[in-house]
Amino acid sequence: MFELTGVARTVTLQNGKPLPILRGIDLRVEGGEHISIVGQSGTGKSTLLNIIGMLDLPDEGTYIFEGKDVARLSESKRAALRGTSFGFVFQQFNLFNARTALQNVEAPLLYSSSSKDLFRRSRLAADMLDLVGLGDRLYAMPSQLSGGEQQRVAIARALVRRPHVILADEPTGALDVETGNRVIDLLEEVAHEMNSALVVISHDMQVAARAQRIYQIVHGQLHERTHEQIDVALTTRQFGEVEE
Ligand SMILES: Nc1ncnc2c1ncn2[C@@H]1O[C@H](COP(=O)(O)OP(=O)(O)OP(=O)(O)O)[C@@H](O)[C@H]1O
Ligand SMILES: [Mg+2]
Repeated sequence: MFELTGVARTVTLQNGKPLPILRGIDLRVEGGEHISIVGQSGTGKSTLLNIIGMLDLPDEGTYIFEGKDVARLSESKRAALRGTSFGFVFQQFNLFNARTALQNVEAPLLYSSSSKDLFRRSRLAADMLDLVGLGDRLYAMPSQLSGGEQQRVAIARALVRRPHVILADEPTGALDVETGNRVIDLLEEVAHEMNSALVVISHDMQVAARAQRIYQIVHGQLHERTHEQIDVALTTRQFGEVEE
């Protein structure tokens, strides 16, 4: 599905100095796989997710998405591919507060040619809300929904175009443990149903441990970790770097 090879990203600080964030990142993910990325705050998790989601480009290395070299695509092709191929879920649900759940989920369909038809659009959005268990709350406003319910609306919105890759940046960060677990259950379920790849970023090892493969960013580099290493980190309460 997608593969990063030797990817590096350096940002320029306000004083003009370069700050290397990521280097030598190799990552290959297939459809239907669930991976997670952990790392302390500021280690580059969101930077990597932005590169995978084509919101940002690497400075070095190659990124091949479904056979296409992303760096060689025009800005407009990249934007189009981003819209159809990726579903983004964030810690902040970013819903339109003056719109119903249904309108929020319909929003990504407004500009897609295959769903110009108003009724078709509503039906797709309603089906997706049904899938996340909110089939009876179509006309609820975000303020009338709990945090977990709002995140489910955000998930329905991210998935309504049936993306090939679901990118979730701290999707449980604003939720209690149990609600967070249900959100991960849901993401896994819908990813499985659509054969989409699921990439979850979390600083919570328990959330990360639910993936098939777990990666940790340390000093800008990506290391694969075993579930045993994560279990040890959990029991010893060492939430920093996993021991090599
Ligand atoms: N455009 C930018 N300009 C300057 N610095 C940046 C830019 N983008 C990211 N950074 C810096 O790069 C580092 C990595 O940021 P990033 O957001 O990827 O971290 P993160 O692992 O997602 O952290 P958190 O867990 O807190 O969300 C941080 O030190 C951040 O300040
Ligand atoms: Mg982040």
